[in-house]
Amino acid sequence: MLYFIGIGLNDEKDISVKGLEVVKGADVVYLESYTSKLACSVEKLEEFYGQKIILADRELVEQKADETILKDAKTKNVAFLVIGDVFGATTHIELMMRAKKDGIKVKIIHNASILSAVGVVGLELYKYGKVTSIPFENKDVRAPVEVVLENQKNGLHSLVLLDLRPEQDKFMTINTALEFLVEKGLDSELSVVGCAGIGSDAPEIRFGKIKEIISAEFTKFPQCLIIPGKLHFMEEEALEFWKQ
Ligand SMILES: C[S@@+](CC[C@H](N)C(=O)[O-])C[C@H]1O[C@@H](n2cnc3c(N)ncnc32)[C@H](O)[C@@H]1O
Repeated sequence: MLYFIGIGLNDEKDISVKGLEVVKGADVVYLESYTSKLACSVEKLEEFYGQKIILADRELVEQKADETILKDAKTKNVAFLVIGDVFGATTHIELMMRAKKDGIKVKIIHNASILSAVGVVGLELYKYGKVTSIPFENKDVRAPVEVVLENQKNGLHSLVLLDLRPEQDKFMTINTALEFLVEKGLDSELSVVGCAGIGSDAPEIRFGKIKEIISAEFTKFPQCLIIPGKLHFMEEEALEFWKQ
């Protein structure tokens, strides 16, 4: 059996009770380690779960799953842990389909994702357009600006995810991301919400014009950005809480 378990956004205690029960009883536990990062260490997770954790990098999940995760799941109970929600990153549908094609039983245990947790800023989740992301290698990349402009045209909010390499402790900052967006043509008079450490006890959320937020201080990681679309008066009021 292969269990896909979302472990939430912040620390070892964000896993659901159902997820924890499965992890405690699993024969093998993998942690997908390349699409996001918790605020606690892997040792802390191991201690709380009472299990040894195998770190699964992109190569293991995308190229070596046959010899590792899927092989184990044919005869054992395997827990595959994902920070946030299981399907908040694009890559895990493929692993699930491969398991099913191999005749492996699959169970999913969901959790909060950054895609839903951004609701905390007060913008209607139903009114978001296409999500975009800014990669570290972005010299010739225009897609994020095009996505934001298209969403703006339709009055929709834009969630912009920022690249990260947790294994190297490397995270794109909101400041760098805004410099990139302005360089690629976004107006620095546009309003934006910077979000860092969502899901923690003290998330950092700041609202203002790009030209203000570009130099604002954010200390937590990971970070993301929201560019509001057309605002309902309730949304306007909510954003005032985060005014820079
Ligand atoms: C692939 S997505 C998240 C996938 C994860 N499975 C989920 O469901 O949340 C990773 C990106 O989301 C954003 N992100 C993730 N967690 C965050 C947090 N706690 N606060 C702010 N941004 C976050 C960052 O931009 C990060 O690079």
